[in-house]
Order: sequence, then C-alpha cells, then structure tokens
Amino acid sequence: MSNYSRTLAVAASLLMVAAAAYSQTPATPPTGSVSHGKELFMKYTCYACHGFSGQNGNGARLVPMKFPQAGFIAYVRNPPRANQMPSYSPKVLPDGDLADIYSYIRSLPDSAPSPASVPILRDILNENK
Ligand code: HEC
Repeated sequence: MSNYSRTLAVAASLLMVAAAAYSQTPATPPTGSVSHGKELFMKYTCYACHGFSGQNGNGARLVPMKFPQAGFIAYVRNPPRANQMPSYSPKVLPDGDLADIYSYIRSLPDSAPSPASVPILRDILNENK
C-alpha cells in the first residue's frame, strides 16, 4: 500500500471511531408503547427506507438513535430534505403515535460492532494510547 493510501485508510478509520464515539443515544428512557410503535413503524412504511432493524435501507440509520424524543418528532414532522423522506403531519401521526414509534426504535438492538472488535480499528486505538 502506498503511503498516501495508508494515510487515507487511517484517516477514514479515525473518522469511523470518532463517529462511533459521538453518536450517543440520549439518556432518558422512552415511555411509549413498544408493541404499538412496531405496528406503526410497519403501517407508515418507515421500514421500507430504514430497514426492519432501523439500520439499513435507503434512509439514514435510526439505531443508535441520536435524537431525544422531541427532536425525533420535530424531524419526522419536517425532514430537512423533502425529496428524501416524506413529512408526517400530526393529522396522520399524532405525537402519541410518534412517541410509540420512538420507543420501538429505541428498543431495537444496535448490531454495529464496537471499534475495539475490528482488528484495524483496534490497532489504531492501541497506537494512540
Ligand atoms: C421514502 C423513504 C422514507 C420513509 C418512508 C421514511 N424515511 Fe426516515 N429518512 C429517509 C431518508 C432518505 C433519511 C435521510 C434524509 C436526509 O439525510 O436528508 C431519513 C431520515 C430519518 C431520520 C433522521 C435520522 C438521522 O439520524 O439523521 C429519522 C429520525 C427518520 N428518518 C424517521 C422515520 C420514521 C419514524 C419514519 C416512518 C414514520 C420514516 N423515517 C419514514 C427516508 C425515509
């Protein structure tokens, strides 16, 4: 590998580590109904773009959730780019229903490996100790 591509690979890996460190799930536990949220996640086709696991598909990863509940609701009401994700008005999805969807998403396990379990990332973590 050339020095340049090695530098690039290291830079990319460091970015991944940094991203993992900063994508923290909000501390407050959600209080909505997980089972009703699951029904709504299917009914309103969130799964079509975000995957059944909330971690794949054409949409952004929802697990781990980076928004507190209020921020999540605000996002779904008014996604920043309307050509990427449809907006869901309170008529279609009242706040209570979105709180249930939020609880369901927060209940989904994060299947991403920890950086320390990926050999190249572990090497980099050790190099920087
Ligand atoms: C037609 C595809 C589509 C559907 C249906 C859809 N989304 Fe999205 N969603 C996206 C895309 C694409 C993005 C990334 C948008 C962007 O970066 O501008 C996104 C982003 C998000 C985000 C922000 C994620 C982040 O961390 O930045 C949340 C939260 C979200 N969607 C929740 C939902 C929920 C809840 C539903 C169902 C009620 C839903 N989405 C339905 C495509 C979709």
